[in-house]
Amino acid sequence: MLTPAQIHDLPKVELHLHIEGTLEPELILQLAERNGIRLPWADIDELRQQYEFTDLQSFLNLYYANMAVLQTEEDFADLTRAYLRRAQAAGVRHAEIFMDPQAHTVRGVSLSTCMNGVAAALAESEAEFGISSALIVTFLRDRPVAEALTMMQDLIDMRAPIAGIGLDSAEVGHPPIDFVEVFSLARERGLRCVAHAGEEGPPEYVWQALELLQVSRIDHGIRSLEDDALVEHLVTHQIPLTVCPFSNVRLRVIDTLADHPLPAMLARGLAVTVNSDDPAYFGGYLDDNFIALTRTLGFGAGELATLARNAVRASFLKADAQAPLLAQIEDWLTAQV
Ligand code: ADE
Ligand code: ZN
Repeated sequence: MLTPAQIHDLPKVELHLHIEGTLEPELILQLAERNGIRLPWADIDELRQQYEFTDLQSFLNLYYANMAVLQTEEDFADLTRAYLRRAQAAGVRHAEIFMDPQAHTVRGVSLSTCMNGVAAALAESEAEFGISSALIVTFLRDRPVAEALTMMQDLIDMRAPIAGIGLDSAEVGHPPIDFVEVFSLARERGLRCVAHAGEEGPPEYVWQALELLQVSRIDHGIRSLEDDALVEHLVTHQIPLTVCPFSNVRLRVIDTLADHPLPAMLARGLAVTVNSDDPAYFGGYLDDNFIALTRTLGFGAGELATLARNAVRASFLKADAQAPLLAQIEDWLTAQV
């Protein structure tokens, strides 16, 4: 079985990571103290006891509540640097990072505060941590579409340093079709488009994300397996799915990691990638997900290299930046046998 050191050395790309989902309990307490915010928890142990989820919404409730400690540009930069430091230790070489600006503006933190803080840390990422990055603004599908449209225009007006947009938050009852106008505005401006679909929602939402929002990747997408025609479409067009194994278990999308459909997805030829989603909430970072796949699903070097290759190809990196990573993955694979 591959060791954690071998897994560290595999060049990894993270494509589904919510920066707010990297807010660790220790940092929550530190920022609460720095900003004079009273938390509802007596201590870190009581806070940690909240991390038992029954579904997506039960997680989102805690995820949004904990963001109250993020107040200043410095807070957002510290959060982002803490993630990048941990990602470096995981052997992540490129990260495309989601941020949920509406989760901050609705509580009185300005768009420029969250954007500038995260962007400042990402601007130093390559030099400081050896990780290239892209920022993706995600719209909250359970908030009014008009709010997303206004924010999209604000992002354009401020020339926000973003590579693309996405769609997240509570999925069921909030279909992609509602956000057609937002996504077409983004596409007109040359932004890349992705969307969470088929996490808790039906395959129909995956079809809508593809056909109406014209996304180039689907985040999660595991419920696509319920629709054979959809699987065939995803395979034929090699549309990447950013699968998040730990997240799926902790949000009870699947029962246990041993039941995860990832091996079946690979066997069917889907362009799957493995990602950490909200690692501070779901029990581990990208390396932890990969280690668990070797231990629980018996993945070897061949499967991990396929996942790593798929992620490079699914990234927004240009071909000349993908090529050295792909070559390093082949070198890694050769060294394992
Ligand atoms: N926001 C943060 N994590 C999410 C997830 N797994 N699904 C939908 N929205 C999210
Ligand atoms: Zn997500």
